[in-house]
Amino acid sequence: MVENRDELSWDDWDELQSPRPDENDFDRVVEEALTRRGFLGGVLAFGSGAAVMGAGALMPSGAKAVTSGRFGFNPITVATDATVHVPEGYNWQILARWGDPLFSDAPVFDHATGGDYKSDRVFGENTDGMEVFEVDGHQVIAVNHEYLNLRLNLPQNEGGMPVSVLDVQKMQNLQGVTVMEVTEGDRGWDVVVDSPFNRRIHHNTAMRIAGPAAGHDLLKTKADPYGVEVLGTMNNCGAGKTPWGTYLTCEENFNGYFGSTDKDLVTPVGFDRYGIGLDSRYDYEKFDPRYDLSITPNEPNRFGYIVEIDPSKPDSRPVKRTALGRFKHENAEVVIARDGRVVVYLGDDERGEFLYKFVSEDVYQPGGDTENLLDVGTLFVAKFHADGSGNWIALTAETTGMDQAEIHIHTRMAASAVGATTMDRPEWVAVNPISVEAYCALTNNKNRGKKPNAGGDDTSPNAVNPREANHYGQIVRWTPADENHAAETFNWDLYVMAGNPKVHSDAYAGSSNINEGNLFNSPDGMAFDSTGLLWIQTDGNYKNQGDFAGMGNNQMLVGDPNSGEIVRFMTVPYGAEVTGLCWSADRRSMFVGIQHPKSPFPDGDGKLARSSVIVVKRDDNSVIG
Ligand code: FEO
Ligand code: CA
Ligand code: CA
Repeated sequence: MVENRDELSWDDWDELQSPRPDENDFDRVVEEALTRRGFLGGVLAFGSGAAVMGAGALMPSGAKAVTSGRFGFNPITVATDATVHVPEGYNWQILARWGDPLFSDAPVFDHATGGDYKSDRVFGENTDGMEVFEVDGHQVIAVNHEYLNLRLNLPQNEGGMPVSVLDVQKMQNLQGVTVMEVTEGDRGWDVVVDSPFNRRIHHNTAMRIAGPAAGHDLLKTKADPYGVEVLGTMNNCGAGKTPWGTYLTCEENFNGYFGSTDKDLVTPVGFDRYGIGLDSRYDYEKFDPRYDLSITPNEPNRFGYIVEIDPSKPDSRPVKRTALGRFKHENAEVVIARDGRVVVYLGDDERGEFLYKFVSEDVYQPGGDTENLLDVGTLFVAKFHADGSGNWIALTAETTGMDQAEIHIHTRMAASAVGATTMDRPEWVAVNPISVEAYCALTNNKNRGKKPNAGGDDTSPNAVNPREANHYGQIVRWTPADENHAAETFNWDLYVMAGNPKVHSDAYAGSSNINEGNLFNSPDGMAFDSTGLLWIQTDGNYKNQGDFAGMGNNQMLVGDPNSGEIVRFMTVPYGAEVTGLCWSADRRSMFVGIQHPKSPFPDGDGKLARSSVIVVKRDDNSVIG
């Protein structure tokens, strides 16, 4: 029994469940890795940010950011308080809080109980990735609810743990996805309560399994003997949007939901790699046999996928697209390649795991049949080379020795088999809309150079993840060969290495586009706006002490891909991460997610902290990106 589950990050939870051996023979240091990589030369040799990264890339810099004028605001300072701050000339308002009714039959949120049991009729908890869709003139937001803060949702229970089937159902309902119509009136933005588009998709929503893993023995259960239908999507982290108007929700730390009432159970091959153990985070298995590995051992194999949802059809069944692999999915960044094929970039957010992309077999044709585009294609994994080049390795029977279904169920093992590059926790990937390049946030990795990944792969510093015990993170970017996102080779550089030049004078000071005016750690959410500026959201250490002194609360920054400049746009309440970003159809409003504040946000002292989606606008109502 693990105490204080609420206090543990998902990664720390995993390591408690499946302790990894220390790798004591590690003898390479960061500087050697950087020398081998040829970091300075490599950056200078290619990439539009070369001038800024350039010769000072690893040197501390006390210089203030010199703004190029592209940003249109004066950067703000760090904050340590319990509210949101945006630059002068901008304003923000709440759009939706955990527990706000989506339907008029749901009661107003009760701070004493953490909301009542009609939890599938309200906005869920822990808002994460989201996208806006325009449907027949209506604006519809699909938004993820990643996980639960136990003590908030069941405040009357010891440790916030469930004590009944009803408690478990309440918890299951509050996670997953909300689809909701929103509208802007004289008082700002509101949810349209009772809109026919409003919908909750949660841990018990029926959905179809499609793609290479569908029907495989490992996906069959008593309730679903054909392995093609499953209840629920869980730990919905990042998101994606297809050109054909569907929403992609990404199942991340699904492993933590399964446990066993039989503590002598021997778990099957593959469970260790995904961190599936005998203890769960929420004790579902004590009340719901579907989550009890001793009763339903194949159930976890039915999670860890990308799920496609049509927000325009409230009765449509979501579809799990197994062709996009099974791992701890962060987001799903979709881009149509130059040759018309659909490319989806995908990160696996765990220490030492990999970066993937899917390339469809068929080309996308606007108005054409899109039903099988995400079912048939090739899954690739990234290999980064020290000379600044890279290639995508196809995961096929030939390259992995696994059959096609197995590759899409045990994707991590397939990627290990081909020797992919272990990464510092790939979070969001963002594709620049005005230049053929993509960025991935590598949030941090305290195990880099210390421990292998869960599959035993070596995680010594490498060119793209050069710092041992990396607790600041970096953003890598790549330009595909022939300006074609479907190409199998690319060139890469580091857009930024976060760091703290006030504390360190070595590689931990960060790259030269880090300065006292923009200190941050742990880049996570990312999205490009229509002008080609990169918005960067952080989910990091917010204690503002020691190595993190001067960084304050989590924040959202904006980066210029051309100059390399990065400036701070927003700070969020103490304890919260900022995650989820999208724009209204007219781009005069920006929707931003505030997840797990640990301060009384937004309802004030004495109230429960509530994850919320906020709207940011310019005071003059002009376009915001
Ligand atoms: Fe749910 Fe990796 O963030
Ligand atoms: Ca994230
Ligand atoms: Ca994160």
